[in-house]
Amino acid sequence: MNKIVVIGNGDVGSSYTFALMAQGVGNNVGIIDLDSQKVAGDVKDLTNGLAYVGPKSIYPAEYSDCSDADLIVITAGAAQKENETRLDLVKRNARIIKSIVQSVMAHNFTGIFLIASNPVDVLTHYVKKLTGFPANRVIGSGTSLDSARLRSAVGEKFQIDPRDVNIYILGEHGDTQFPVWSHGNIGGLKITEWLDQHPEFSKSDLVELSENVKNAAYEIIHYKGSTHYGIAISLARITKAILQDENSVLPVSVHLEGQYNSEDVCIGSNAVLNREGIREIIEIPLAEDEMEKMRISIQTLKDMQNTVLESDS
Ligand SMILES: NC(=O)c1ccc[n+]([C@@H]2O[C@H](COP(=O)([O-])OP(=O)(O)OC[C@H]3O[C@@H](n4cnc5c(N)ncnc54)[C@H](O)[C@@H]3O)[C@@H](O)[C@H]2O)c1
Repeated sequence: MNKIVVIGNGDVGSSYTFALMAQGVGNNVGIIDLDSQKVAGDVKDLTNGLAYVGPKSIYPAEYSDCSDADLIVITAGAAQKENETRLDLVKRNARIIKSIVQSVMAHNFTGIFLIASNPVDVLTHYVKKLTGFPANRVIGSGTSLDSARLRSAVGEKFQIDPRDVNIYILGEHGDTQFPVWSHGNIGGLKITEWLDQHPEFSKSDLVELSENVKNAAYEIIHYKGSTHYGIAISLARITKAILQDENSVLPVSVHLEGQYNSEDVCIGSNAVLNREGIREIIEIPLAEDEMEKMRISIQTLKDMQNTVLESDS
């Protein structure tokens, strides 16, 4: 059995549960939220579709359901408001996450945590501190969404299936994130080689695409108040990699232990994911300017982590 408990059933949590159901990932999905009526309604609504996707147990969960869960996915918390950075959210969401993690740990949970609540890197680090779990069992969604956004944007620009665009955004899921052009490739060509062979495009097109990705959340929130489908599909992808023991490479928030000359910080980095959670972190030998951006991103997150830890003491 692949048992998932989703904590937080707002726009992100409910879209994630729908994505799990539509893609046939996990066969036992419990949902927890302060708003029990919304949970009851969503469970009934989702259950109505089971005839078309196969048997699955979807139910309003209690914290006691976490004791034998394989994966706990935390999407609870206040959402980012217009003109609010993800880092502004930190203290508010840290308090929420702490109470949730304490409730989960009270039931002797021994599986894997996947965090989506923002600021996701800082909260992933906080969950690791609160639980004392090894780094492989505390994973944040990191730059999985940002990388997917960039791959789609590059794919659209160059008219290539985004699944064949292998370019990653690393660093903070936030304003200091950066694309790793030096190691991106399309169909075996380095990005510079691709541009050489397609002179109608230039490096400035790429810069524009990555800037648009960085601002995508602000734009979507301006239009409709929250972003949730993209992150839901990213979370379902990570879930599938873990529960189906795929050894897939995804850019997620990981606890650095010496990689990128850093430790004790959670940040978006490529990693191999399987049933153990994070099997290993892939440290890319970044170009000099990318390494400087990674250093800035790490420092930004360390400052924010310290704010959370100080407010907690
Ligand atoms: N990592 C990413 O890439 C990414 C992308 C989009 C959104 N997010 C983040 O996901 C989080 C959720 O966003 P949303 O749009 O779904 O917000 P939302 O307001 O729609 O939903 C949040 C839910 O959390 C619930 N909640 C709050 N405190 C709780 C508690 N103590 N226990 C159980 N449930 C609790 C609320 O009742 C609500 O249903 C936010 O922090 C947002 O910034 C992350």
